[in-house]
Amino acid sequence: MKLVAMVGSNRKDSYNMKLASFMQKRYHEKIEIEILPIGQLPFYNQDDELNPPAIVEDIRSKIKKSDGILFATPEYNASISGLMKNAIDWFSRVDKVMVNKPAMIVGASMGKLGTVKAQMQLRQILNAPGVGTITLPGNEVYVGSVHEKIDGNGNLNDEQTVQFIDSVVDNFINWIEKVGVLNK
Ligand code: FNR
Repeated sequence: MKLVAMVGSNRKDSYNMKLASFMQKRYHEKIEIEILPIGQLPFYNQDDELNPPAIVEDIRSKIKKSDGILFATPEYNASISGLMKNAIDWFSRVDKVMVNKPAMIVGASMGKLGTVKAQMQLRQILNAPGVGTITLPGNEVYVGSVHEKIDGNGNLNDEQTVQFIDSVVDNFINWIEKVGVLNK
């Protein structure tokens, strides 16, 4: 089973990138996760969508071949980042490669609420017709106070959080087995 991951921050020390990388390592025996370079995408422009830059086609084909998408979102001004929205906009057009893809969401912030507002909006965006992921219900992974939970090596060291993410990943794998047929 192969997932692609979209991380909504291109900050060097991004907690969301650390979270996605931690998940990539921790679950590698269960599921392969490839982190997509969405931070390198140009701004979406409808004039370019039928003849887009190579990176758009590269990422599009990776999404198309994947069994599901992991979204790791920061919270910017009570919403998702422009970087994440830009990626979603690109791949909601032309082939619409996210339609019927199983999806799960995680998010990390230093605040206590751990990206609640961003994730509420992300769920709504993922439900737009051109996006159309089949998003895992419930299983809401809000990693608040993340600066106290990730060590210098990028490992999530809060046992309760790790166990919860373990269970959500298992639920997601079961979800893909149930709904993945729609994605074929
Ligand atoms: C933030 N941050 C933030 N945090 C939050 O909990 N709610 C919010 O609305 C915002 N708004 C916001 C706007 C902007 C423009 C920035 C740059 C930051 C803080 C944010 O959660 C924090 O910088 C995270 O560390 C960003 O995620 P990465 O880059 O660590 O993955």
